[in-house]
Amino acid sequence: MKTDEIRKKFLEFFEERDHMVLPSFSLIPEDDPGLLLIGAGMAPLKPYFTGEKTPPKTRMATCQKCIRTPDIEEVGKTARHATFFEMLGNFSFGDYFKKESIAWGYEFVTKVLKLPEEKVWVSVYYEDDEAYNIWKDDIGIPEEKIVKLGKEDNFWEIGEGPCGPCSEIYYDRGEKYGCGGSECKPGCDCDRFFELWNHVFTQFNRDSEGNYTTLDQKNIDTGAGLERLAVILQDVSSIYEIDSIKPILDFVCKTSNKEYGKNEKDDVSMRIITEHIRSVTFMVGDGVLPSNEGRGYVLRRILRRAARHAKLLGIEGTFMPEASNVVIDIMEDAYPELKEREEYINKIIQIEEERFLETVEQGMEILKGYIEDLNNEGKDVLDGSLAFKLYDTYGFPIDLTREILIEQGLKVDEDRFTECLEEQRERARKAQAASSNMIQNLGEIKDLEKISSKFVGYEVLECEALIKGIIKENKLVDKVEKGEDAQILLDATPFYAESGGQVGDQGEIQKEDAKAVVEDTYYSPFEQPVHQIRIEEGSLQVGDKINSKVYRKRRESIKKNHSSTHLLHHALRSTLGAHVEQAGSLVAPDRLRFDFTHFEAITKEELEDIEKQVNAFIWENYPVNVTVTHYNKAKEMGAVSLFGEKYEDEVRVVEMGESMELCGGTHVDSTGEVGLFKIIGESGIGAGLRRIEAITGEKAFRYLNDSWEKVKDISSLLKTNEENVVVKVEEVLNDLKEKDKELEKFKEEIRKNEVDEILDKVTKIDGVSVLTHKVDDGDPESMRRIGDQIKNKLSSGVVVLGSSDNEKVQFISMVTKDLTDRGIHAGDIVKKVAEVTGGGGGGRPTMAQAGGKNPGKLNEALGIVPDLIKEKIQ
Ligand code: ALA
Repeated sequence: MKTDEIRKKFLEFFEERDHMVLPSFSLIPEDDPGLLLIGAGMAPLKPYFTGEKTPPKTRMATCQKCIRTPDIEEVGKTARHATFFEMLGNFSFGDYFKKESIAWGYEFVTKVLKLPEEKVWVSVYYEDDEAYNIWKDDIGIPEEKIVKLGKEDNFWEIGEGPCGPCSEIYYDRGEKYGCGGSECKPGCDCDRFFELWNHVFTQFNRDSEGNYTTLDQKNIDTGAGLERLAVILQDVSSIYEIDSIKPILDFVCKTSNKEYGKNEKDDVSMRIITEHIRSVTFMVGDGVLPSNEGRGYVLRRILRRAARHAKLLGIEGTFMPEASNVVIDIMEDAYPELKEREEYINKIIQIEEERFLETVEQGMEILKGYIEDLNNEGKDVLDGSLAFKLYDTYGFPIDLTREILIEQGLKVDEDRFTECLEEQRERARKAQAASSNMIQNLGEIKDLEKISSKFVGYEVLECEALIKGIIKENKLVDKVEKGEDAQILLDATPFYAESGGQVGDQGEIQKEDAKAVVEDTYYSPFEQPVHQIRIEEGSLQVGDKINSKVYRKRRESIKKNHSSTHLLHHALRSTLGAHVEQAGSLVAPDRLRFDFTHFEAITKEELEDIEKQVNAFIWENYPVNVTVTHYNKAKEMGAVSLFGEKYEDEVRVVEMGESMELCGGTHVDSTGEVGLFKIIGESGIGAGLRRIEAITGEKAFRYLNDSWEKVKDISSLLKTNEENVVVKVEEVLNDLKEKDKELEKFKEEIRKNEVDEILDKVTKIDGVSVLTHKVDDGDPESMRRIGDQIKNKLSSGVVVLGSSDNEKVQFISMVTKDLTDRGIHAGDIVKKVAEVTGGGGGGRPTMAQAGGKNPGKLNEALGIVPDLIKEKIQ
């Protein structure tokens, strides 16, 4: 039975039993900040288990894409470990419980998949008599095949969230896979009893501190690894041989020109690549981008691990994009989003693999040096700070350092490495913006949640309001006085709290005898706008009626920049293509910054085109229409939503010309208000990510005007008009080039004369022609030329030239090849000579350069050359 068929049969089976079948959720969790990636079918459904949200139906079933990485080191070494897998699961939210779940599980395995009953074993949590009796009495499993296991095996939890005791269904693959032990049964580490399906009786919720609370409703959460089922049904020995994975392994064999099964080390590499490329393809497909933190790092690590094993197999250049195409071809029926994003996936993988290859090359060189040093010193532990430097400065992954060292019988001083890492994290932590700390602290304040506040700033910039809460030093207080800083909440506020990239408003709060400045506005963790204030006059109390006023000019600049951001987004998509996705944005009063996905450098022409388009949209003076509607309706209308962003049911649709986006920000009433749009920067900021910075309105005018003033100044300096300034600059540069050439000619002549003079000074030391001389022109290029000319004339000899200005000394040493064979080394000579003047340097045996600090010692330094030669010759 093919994997596609198993998946289909599973979902049909539960649909027939009144389950709502949903497509897989994205690998990126929504609204679950504690979780990096979806690692189980139940993960996206957590709020339904806890009762926090009402499910659309109390019975559901999915086939969920999952990523799990704790066992990443095992992948490739075993037949069954994987970082990516598909999990089949049926779920009950306070609906059916153990009895039905167990019975359906058994029915599906024995009747639909037709696995022989005698090969099916089960396990239960040792205290769960209910589950034990269901298996024994209702299903009829002989008691010797029902194994009781402890918390380690049969209590399922994954960090915070719903959890509970579980019961697993195993398949006995026969003695040939077994360890032969008399105690071999489910729970044994060997490969004989293959775990197929876990049924979790979700009764508890685990909080971040590790406390368990009983849930109001009893739930079912099951999970069966699709690949594992396929291994049994296709009667193969590992996941690498099932129909959805084998073609990838074949591709890796073909590309590396190696046969699978010939050499265990190669086989491990092939399996690692085969497995990892699945994870990589799916992660990128769901919008994860390689980075150095969070899920981006998980992706980077998996991708780079595969790329490194490709190197070990001798595969040249990039090959992962092609490998990901193989994955897409196999999986596209079940996951059509892969095909839709094929080009995007390819590009992201390509860029990251290329980058990795560059990094590896550079890092390997450095690491090789470290290893040599260790070998020379007879040590086997690499200093952790060196490993950290490789990681931090050169981006060379620590796990690669570890693996390479292990291959050579060496290791890293892990404690020191961790110490360095901690120090760096500490620095980063300290650098974190104070306001984000403040926001976090607000979450700890009891009773804050009860205060409600309404935003009225779309309509007005000024209004009367009541003070509903004052926070001073992380506590709710009744009053604040002149000179104090505080955070306050109003029943209604015209102040926009920072969100969607738009910065928070600033302004003033006043009553008769008191005044406060609002320095910033942001959302508390309970989603109330919080004003960061400083009292300038009088005092403010909870219950006071005040007047609140947003700084109008600042808000207007922000509005212009926000509307321009939408126009820019639209222009980017129409110029570069629909692959452009917003990846971040900042809308401030003085500028806007827009990050987006795009895979190559943007040409000058494209950038000009984009800027032109945005200005054309502005000058069209489109009205800006804002409507509030249902999310699905907005999508139907074609509104652009942000990839991976979560929206409420009610959304705001902002429309101007052809641009239509979901957005909560503040905007101009018609695009003409923006006036002018000027791009001031464009750059790459990461794999497949670019950034545009721009200014608008008056600021853009001033910027252009300043540039024009500069052109005028330059023209007047060059004694020409603005029109001809470029031609004039070209002329001046050409002139300069000509003059340089002439100067070089003169210099050459002087050098020739100098060379002739110098040649008179050649002395013989033990039969070797030696020439030391102080030259006037200390330019290294000049010194090299003089040195070369003398060397050519001597045909055999040693030349050491020195030169000095007021502060420093320069040396160059040259030795003809016949003498280097006799042990005279230009690098050694120049090093010793430079030491006399308090410096150092070195180089190749035939040519070396060095510098010193003490000009007064130049002659003395050159004077030691004869002795150095004598020492060598003897
Ligand atoms: N959530 C359970 C598991 O992942 C079913 O094993």
